[in-house]
Amino acid sequence: MDNTNGDIALAIFRTPELEDKENSAARLRIETLGASIDRVASEAADRAEVLHGLAQPQKTLPAKYFYDARGSQLFEEICGLPEYYPTRAEAWILDRYAVEVADATGPCGLVELGSGSSTKTRALLDADRNLGGALRYVPIDVSRTILTESAKQLLRDYPTLEVRGAVATYDRALAALSFKFAPTDLPSRMLVFLGSSLGNLTLEECDRFFGQVRGFLDAGEYFLLGVDLHKSTAQLDAAYNDSRGVTAAFNLNMLAHLNRRFGADFDRANFQHRAFYNEGDRQIEMHLRCLHSHEVQLGDRRFAFTEGETIRTEISRKFDVDAVRAQLDRYDLEPVNIWRDPQGWFASILSRRRVR
Ligand code: AVJ
Repeated sequence: MDNTNGDIALAIFRTPELEDKENSAARLRIETLGASIDRVASEAADRAEVLHGLAQPQKTLPAKYFYDARGSQLFEEICGLPEYYPTRAEAWILDRYAVEVADATGPCGLVELGSGSSTKTRALLDADRNLGGALRYVPIDVSRTILTESAKQLLRDYPTLEVRGAVATYDRALAALSFKFAPTDLPSRMLVFLGSSLGNLTLEECDRFFGQVRGFLDAGEYFLLGVDLHKSTAQLDAAYNDSRGVTAAFNLNMLAHLNRRFGADFDRANFQHRAFYNEGDRQIEMHLRCLHSHEVQLGDRRFAFTEGETIRTEISRKFDVDAVRAQLDRYDLEPVNIWRDPQGWFASILSRRRVR
């Protein structure tokens, strides 16, 4: 066996399993943002947003509805596909440069938007742990299932870590979180937004988002952003049209989620996955293409679908580092450093909320 001295020491001092569990539970708290009265209002807003999207000439659905428990699992599968390079490229950057990030920021509480499996975040936690000080992590995700499972795994692997997770959208987290989760014993926080999820936002939504980030962070606090960079159409098309059909299943799963969540009656068999790189707008577009004319019921509303028309379920913009840097700077997020993978496919940008 590959037992090292470290393992032996652990075995001797290991707490009984039950104690272990209790210890983990004490270090975990997960809440749903927007309690009681708020929740009714936010459910109504979510439904209105979906109805609005389906009433547009180009029907659209918000990309956040990919991520129910099943969708989050499918996304994890996508991350391991040979064609889907972004996850590996970003993981390489973080594994290689997390120490430089930690050196730049000093000890930080990590707050992560769209944390999912939190796999890549581990490099940041490792680097932070090596600085000493309290290890605190605030993962935020719309899927309670993946949030809880990932948090439990982290607590097992990081015996001093404290996790305060939130089931929330980016919007709700950035608006409601600052006063609730501000760590008292850490001098600073770093907001982490990985995976190029920023690409799901239009340029205008990006402006709004960076404004929210500016409002969320105190002066001197950090923002670590991962962005997928512009590259050849062939490589991009392949990344969103994998040969095993996992991306297609991920796209179609949104319909099942909407059926459950809003009482719709989408039939997945009536739709087909389509993804392509829109070179003019520098964005991947994912659509669900209707195979034959039919109607879909959502609550008391009916929507007509004609053969060949599509619902756009996602845009995934591809970035130019200088443009992102300039945009961050306009929102008082002063670029500190930037790291890339050797192929230049992906970039991690560290910025700091300007002190003025
Ligand atoms: C998690 C939004 C960054 O746009 O590449 C992967 C989602 N969609 N394959 C991306 C996704 C299809 C992913 N983001």
